[in-house]
Amino acid sequence: MNNLDELIATIKQTDTYKRYGKVLRVVGLMIESQGPIANIGEVCYIHSSNNRRPPILSEVVGFHNEKIVLMPYAEVSEIGPGCLVESTGKPLSVKIGPSLIGQVVDSLGNRLDELPLPKGLANYLTEQSPPNPMQRPPINEPIQVGVKAIDTLLTVGKGQRIGIFAGSGVGKSTLMGMIARNSSADINVIALIGERGREVREFIEKDLGEEGLKRSIVVVATSDQPALMRMKGAYTATAISEYFRDLGYQVNLMMDSVTRVAIAQREIGLATGEPPTTKGYTPSVFAVLPKLLERTGTNQHGTITAFYTVLVDGDDMNEPIADTVRGILDGHFVMDRSLAERGQFPAINVLKSISRVMNQIIDDEHKQTVQQIRSLMATYEQNRELINIGAYKRGSDQEIDRAIAYYPKIQTFLKQDVFEYKTLDESIEMMKDLLNGGMN
Ligand SMILES: Nc1ncnc2c1ncn2[C@@H]1O[C@H](COP(=O)(O)OP(=O)(O)OP(=O)(O)O)[C@@H](O)[C@H]1O
Ligand SMILES: [Mg+2]
Repeated sequence: MNNLDELIATIKQTDTYKRYGKVLRVVGLMIESQGPIANIGEVCYIHSSNNRRPPILSEVVGFHNEKIVLMPYAEVSEIGPGCLVESTGKPLSVKIGPSLIGQVVDSLGNRLDELPLPKGLANYLTEQSPPNPMQRPPINEPIQVGVKAIDTLLTVGKGQRIGIFAGSGVGKSTLMGMIARNSSADINVIALIGERGREVREFIEKDLGEEGLKRSIVVVATSDQPALMRMKGAYTATAISEYFRDLGYQVNLMMDSVTRVAIAQREIGLATGEPPTTKGYTPSVFAVLPKLLERTGTNQHGTITAFYTVLVDGDDMNEPIADTVRGILDGHFVMDRSLAERGQFPAINVLKSISRVMNQIIDDEHKQTVQQIRSLMATYEQNRELINIGAYKRGSDQEIDRAIAYYPKIQTFLKQDVFEYKTLDESIEMMKDLLNGGMN
């Protein structure tokens, strides 16, 4: 009986007619069509003129008088005037489930190796609202990241959102691989947006490795893909993280890079006729970023601890994307080229970095130790030039003498080989020992 009711309900909800429109013109990335009746964000199929190719998936991105403006998810070919546009009546959804763990998928949730998806996955909309701020539990517990410099001096909380600011080639991918392998999260969701194809394979095989992939889902949208696909990669990865957060998981989301997401949104904006107002970025970029980044963090079921990389050219931290992202997130880690050049890896500049929830989640002894180490490092940095040219005479200032004595020990402690693994507690113990005369 129950079954029958369900069937009747399904029939009632099913669209009994299909809504079609016709392609009028194609301008650059945009396809204009007369009908169907569809809302912004809805997915439509565009059928090729001779039906030889599978229909092209596209999304309604705007209106123009009575016409709708579509943007395709794939390269467009074999489309001409009069091609049929069929509305699905729904925004984009992807298939998600626990059996997706260990897979590499594209922005639409299909496997990159083109094999069929595992069975038993659920449909999940890629665009969701952020959790209600009043229902967000506060961050009150540290999460093990498995990188000594971070666990000790920049402790991250479960559900914290961090920006990793770095130029090219300073060790972002290596750092993300380390976090994915070493962290205490239940699952990693890794979004690779706008990377070159070669880098994707390198990351999965070298940085993440088999061990890392086993507890990860990787979402890939390479630089050669249409802007909408690159943008959707960020949504899909966030949606996958949300799905697991709702199941009560502690999720790690790593997005490399949010700058390329912003660039994709700019391309979409410019194509739909937005003006480039802030250093070439369109207004929608600054509307989309907070909405996307607010989706992660804690909710009443679980947590998404998120790491978003931001590309900074020549350490220009005031570039508009860097500035916006820094304002939204609960902390930023700066990776410094000068450290990488000195072979100081991971090249995190601790003094320029901050974890804004750290003080709420660590004990007093940890706090005091961190303060002492930071002040030793700061004293050394302030006097680095004098010390380096030999202008500083030992004995003239007790503080500087102490900073010089501790400097090599602190640097050695902060260095970490790619495959070196330390738990959160081990790292904290090591840091405390460092001040107590250990680690000689
Ligand atoms: N922890 C580490 N220990 C030793 N070497 C490291 C470490 N992290 C990074 N490196 C070195 O830095 C190089 C660049 O690292 P990586 O590819 O991770 O940088 P990236 O910022 O992702 O670069 P790109 O901008 O090209 O994507 C690596 O090839 C490696 O030699
Ligand atoms: Mg990289």
